Amino acid sequence: MYRNQFWCYWDRKHNQDEYTYKNVFIDENLLEYIESLDNIKTFLDHGCGHGRISKVICDKFPDIDITVNDITPKAIEKTTELLHETKNLHSVLGEIQYVSGEYDCIISHRVIHSCPDYENTFTEIYRLLKKQGSCFISVRSLDGIPKEKHRQSFNSKNNIIFKKIKGRFTKFFKTDEFKELITHSGLSIKNFGTFSELSAKSQTENKYLYAICEKVK
Ligand SMILES: C[S@@+](CC[C@H](N)C(=O)[O-])C[C@H]1O[C@@H](n2cnc3c(N)ncnc32)[C@H](O)[C@@H]1O
Repeated sequence: MYRNQFWCYWDRKHNQDEYTYKNVFIDENLLEYIESLDNIKTFLDHGCGHGRISKVICDKFPDIDITVNDITPKAIEKTTELLHETKNLHSVLGEIQYVSGEYDCIISHRVIHSCPDYENTFTEIYRLLKKQGSCFISVRSLDGIPKEKHRQSFNSKNNIIFKKIKGRFTKFFKTDEFKELITHSGLSIKNFGTFSELSAKSQTENKYLYAICEKVK
């Protein structure tokens, strides 16, 4: 695997004890989405972290065929540990491009804004979703981010493309841009909203955009 600066950032973070999801409650919109799922047989957790989302899925669907994906070995290790009772567990280390198969459901929670290749990541989710399958995608919102605080890059229309700080990549999304990227990938938006969740290390409240989507064609 190509161990670039973004990989190093996450690898370092996952190896710190202070990086923990113990006190980070899963947003209620995502929990409601999981609650609404019915009869799903295959599930992909994109950027699984410590596996807290997969755990909720496995508790609801104990026989599910589940694939967890993350770029760092520590994340895969922690998730596998948490899901040790799960019979049909597969893991894929690396970017989403390395994942194969077809999924009834994909959750990508708080991940895509960390992917420098974010435009393509939406398309990859479309590729991996079964026809009539559904997904939940959430990303960092640009709302509330003070411009002067971060070094930012701008595209030709003067929109912020990304923030790069200490080897980290964070893309803040405007609502229209997020929706456009989803529809451009081929997915249809069924529901859309915003929420706040704590960051795992500093426990600060961050704002996110989310969309519940389907692959209808
Ligand atoms: C903020 S955490 C969210 C973890 C999990 N989805 C959750 O909500 O508990 C972001 C996760 O995405 C992973 N990640 C970062 N860039 C990635 C990429 N390009 N492909 C897959 N996973 C990535 C990180 O290692 C980290 O585990």
